[in-house]
Amino acid sequence: MNMEAITKILFISLLFLSSAFLARSGEVDDESEFSYDENAENGPANWGDIHPNEWGTCKNGTMQSPIDLLNKNVEVVSNLGILQRYYKPSKATLLNRGHDLMLRWDDGGYLKINGIQYQLKQVHWHTPSEHTINGKRFDMEGHLVHETHDGKKIAVIGFVYEIGLSPDLFLSIIEKDLRALADKKNTERHIGIIDPNLIKLDGQKYYRYNGSLTVPPCTEEVVWTIDGKVKTVTRRQMKLLRDVVHDEFETNARPIQPLNGRPIKFNKPWPFA
Ligand SMILES: *[C@@H]1O[C@H](CO)[C@@H](O)[C@H](O)[C@H]1NC(C)=O
Ligand SMILES: *[C@@H]1O[C@H](CO)[C@@H](O)[C@H](O)[C@H]1NC(C)=O
Repeated sequence: MNMEAITKILFISLLFLSSAFLARSGEVDDESEFSYDENAENGPANWGDIHPNEWGTCKNGTMQSPIDLLNKNVEVVSNLGILQRYYKPSKATLLNRGHDLMLRWDDGGYLKINGIQYQLKQVHWHTPSEHTINGKRFDMEGHLVHETHDGKKIAVIGFVYEIGLSPDLFLSIIEKDLRALADKKNTERHIGIIDPNLIKLDGQKYYRYNGSLTVPPCTEEVVWTIDGKVKTVTRRQMKLLRDVVHDEFETNARPIQPLNGRPIKFNKPWPFA
């Protein structure tokens, strides 16, 4: 081999290495890294193998989400109280993450559970729902994600939707911006002040259990609340959300994970009706 050929090979190897490095240090938000295709190499069963050190919990975790909220595993209680949401209107950004659509707040207030304050960070949606109730899957599920100031504790409120005739108020408000974002992957759009209180919940009837994030890195010790109200979304609104994401897959719901004997509570104000 002459000197020129060696230089060429060296150069190509260098290019290859650096692009591999860039891909590796890319954000979790990179849509190419994991998929929802159960037959794919980067599908849900293999998420833990994609980055074993960072995402290993997706595979070896024992408190993973989502789960089926099966009646026979649920203990009905009345002592968890009304959900304490202290939300406030705040500047918001819409972000197309490729695998989902997220709305992030700068300072949207907080949620209080057992005396701990979790700051509201973002809301995002999954279609169909990730959690099932007695085996029933709903058309869509929203996740309000909260974190303590130190970022160490996470609390998520999940709420499910069924397709119906009346549009969802909150999605109606951001519809114009959703349309503007369609087809632009991994882009952000500042959408002004948005009031998180416009996401209406029951807040009194809800499931509570300990689980994990439903996307890599599948971090555990997430306090889950699944609100008892089934919301309504129009087919058109749901399609808009899906179209914005424009994933190669129609769905973005992680399969049901083993309960492994975890307690599930259902809070209902006394007297039980
Ligand atoms: C599970 O995976 C995580 C991340 O790789 C690792 O830190 C942890 O030690 C693993 N736990 C077990 C029980 O293998
Ligand atoms: C979740 O875990 C915490 C800490 O281990 C525990 O105190 C709490 O009772 C658990 N919650 C449920 C609903 O099991």
